[in-house]
Amino acid sequence: MKAEEETISEEEQKKLIMQQDIAIIKRMNDINHKIAVMSGKGGVGKSTIAVNLAVAFALKGYHTGLMDVDLHGPDVPHMLGVENAILQQSPLGILPLNVMENLDILSIEFMLPSKGSPIIWRGPKKTGAIRQFLSDVSWGKLDMLIVDNPPGTGDEPLTVLQSISPLDGVVMVTTPQEVAGEDVRKCVNMVKGLKIPVLGIIENMSGFTCPHCKKEINIFGKGEGKELSEELEIPYLGSLPLETQVREKSDQGKPFILSDQESEISKKFMEIVSKIENTISNKRGD
Ligand SMILES: Nc1ncnc2c1ncn2[C@@H]1O[C@H](COP(=O)(O)OP(=O)(O)O)[C@@H](O)[C@H]1O
Ligand SMILES: [Mg+2]
Repeated sequence: MKAEEETISEEEQKKLIMQQDIAIIKRMNDINHKIAVMSGKGGVGKSTIAVNLAVAFALKGYHTGLMDVDLHGPDVPHMLGVENAILQQSPLGILPLNVMENLDILSIEFMLPSKGSPIIWRGPKKTGAIRQFLSDVSWGKLDMLIVDNPPGTGDEPLTVLQSISPLDGVVMVTTPQEVAGEDVRKCVNMVKGLKIPVLGIIENMSGFTCPHCKKEINIFGKGEGKELSEELEIPYLGSLPLETQVREKSDQGKPFILSDQESEISKKFMEIVSKIENTISNKRGD
């Protein structure tokens, strides 16, 4: 990352942007499938889903990259237990961090001077950082790139949607509350407005089974995801329950899909992964 802004002429600036566009196109051409995970709302489980999606594809044998562009809340390294890692440089560019067989990751967290340093950047700087991720990171040949976005329709998701081309599509995450649905609706409209496919919507934190009486309690409500999918004419990928284990594992840096592949939530998640896999392979004729 550049430490300081340099003063350069408009002409020079245009040339640099063009060179970076070319570098991004070249890098992206080496990646077969690209998926962005988004939501209009924060705290709905985007990072949890992005991490587990990346792990699931890696387990299926896809050489996968996971790029965390949540510049203000980069949670991916913590969720994979590698928050103190340092990236290496190679003559081909910055090397992403290998975290397991078939899975490399990149996060702004690895580039901050110290843990807890906040990023206080305005729009153009954020756009610049993400474009630099895309142009300077040497992923090499990948089967799959998953991008974890911050909430909303701001600079980061917009840069991702405009710079990664072609994007197979967006996986939209919601929780069952009405407020989440309202925010997700805006996000879906932004993606559609850019003529990018929405691969589908996942309703996360959908119901909680009381460990004592085994009754289901719908803490955040239920069914908003399905209703939204019908209203917005996008596929419904499925729902995931609220589970203490998911949060605990995540805090310990262990994706739930790796901890117990036979659990109910892992099985539900793998069904969602298969739906996404079918959609993207049908579209490209793989
Ligand atoms: N299905 C779930 N059950 C329990 N906890 C969950 C579930 N999904 C996400 N969480 C937890 O909720 C919190 C927010 O999730 P996160 O993935 O960081 O959301 P976002 O990226 O949308 O802000 C995290 O602590 C995460 O572990
Ligand atoms: Mg997140």
